[in-house]
Amino acid sequence: MKLLVIGAGGREHALAWKLARSPRVSRVFVAPGNAGTAREDGLANVALAGIPGLAKFARKEAVAYTVVGPEAPLADGIVDEFTAAGLRIFGPTQAAARLESSKEHAKSFMQRHGIPSAAYGAFTDAGRAHDYIERQGAPIVVKADGLAAGKGVVVAMDANEAHAAVDRMLLKKEMGVAGNRVVIEQYLEGEEASFIVLADGRHALALASSQDHKRLLDGDRGPNTGGMGAYSPAPVVTPGVHARVMREVIQPAITGMEKDGTPYTGFLYAGLMIAGDGSIKVLEFNCRLGDPETQPIMLRLKSDLVTLIERALEGDLDQVEAEWDTRVALGVVLAAHGYPDAPRKGDAIRGLPAPAEDSHVFHAGTVLNGKDVVSSGGRVLTVTALGHNVRMARRRAYEIADGIRFDGMQLRRDIGHRALAGGRR
Ligand code: AMP
Ligand code: GLY
Repeated sequence: MKLLVIGAGGREHALAWKLARSPRVSRVFVAPGNAGTAREDGLANVALAGIPGLAKFARKEAVAYTVVGPEAPLADGIVDEFTAAGLRIFGPTQAAARLESSKEHAKSFMQRHGIPSAAYGAFTDAGRAHDYIERQGAPIVVKADGLAAGKGVVVAMDANEAHAAVDRMLLKKEMGVAGNRVVIEQYLEGEEASFIVLADGRHALALASSQDHKRLLDGDRGPNTGGMGAYSPAPVVTPGVHARVMREVIQPAITGMEKDGTPYTGFLYAGLMIAGDGSIKVLEFNCRLGDPETQPIMLRLKSDLVTLIERALEGDLDQVEAEWDTRVALGVVLAAHGYPDAPRKGDAIRGLPAPAEDSHVFHAGTVLNGKDVVSSGGRVLTVTALGHNVRMARRRAYEIADGIRFDGMQLRRDIGHRALAGGRR
């Protein structure tokens, strides 16, 4: 069978790579893809944009189903349009994707369905937002309501910072329409983890847990990014925490979506804050897989992903289980000069290794220029490796990363430090 993956990042490379390893698949098209998906066995890039063009392509090629990587096409209603055209596609509808595309909607959804999350207020009026900050005090967190590509959250350690964030979003419109409304919420302490499931509208199947590193610099300093590295499993997600997340977050979310008349099918990502006492709060929902979390998760997945998604499309996810490599997988992002503010493009990439059983270099912001692989975006590659523990996976990932060169390359040297310091492994 033929499949289609929508997107161009490291997440989509990992997803397409894993789908193509299924013996049932002859080809995975990636639209638009990157240099990594262009060169990978079993994958083929298609230079298409726009939902009607993609739907036409899926029909012409008799694609068995389409999988959507990023949030933007989901928020634009790609699932609704494909479904209306009689094409199979895995992802939430536009209405269901509001769980990510509006933070205010997500917060009221969680409140309505008893899903634990930080106390909050939502504001379109700057004066009221300032009053709320004065009443609550700092630290406090200011979030743009809409999609802001990971740049819409300000964790303010003092009130002035929070007031300034409100002015930037509501008055100066620095986030565009995404910042027409702000959510201001209680600052939470604890350890973050990413918990991602496949959902079929009624049931959920958990993927392996993971953690990412959002800050640009070692020691979790510097500006927030889309993620500079990730590993799976997350030691903080003990079997007890896992069971609690399923019971307190995932099941109520799936049931709540069904009750609200917007049943959820697709990948559902819960960004969690886990406190010292094991209590859990949801920081955010994303209606997609995480990037870079997907890269280590796919390297560990032993089950056939094609079949798991098929079961989800059929509504029998309760009939299947996912099997995982017991090893740890760890991914290090190699980012472009100037990332995250103004990433430079066009740097030639050297030293890309041949594929190996215990590792894979997933591409994100890369394009082919003749035979050369050239950078074309902020996060360029995710070097992902397996090892019997965090230390070994990390050593292997850095060994490979150290062989890769491009001008201005940025990487963190401490991916996995939290798992090494406090975790079970
Ligand atoms: P979000 O996009 O909502 O997940 O926020 C991005 C990052 O901001 C999260 O990964 C956290 O590190 C941080 N963050 C968000 N909400 C809170 C909160 N209520 N308390 C503390 N940190 C937060
Ligand atoms: N790595 C965080 C995310 O994908 O949202």
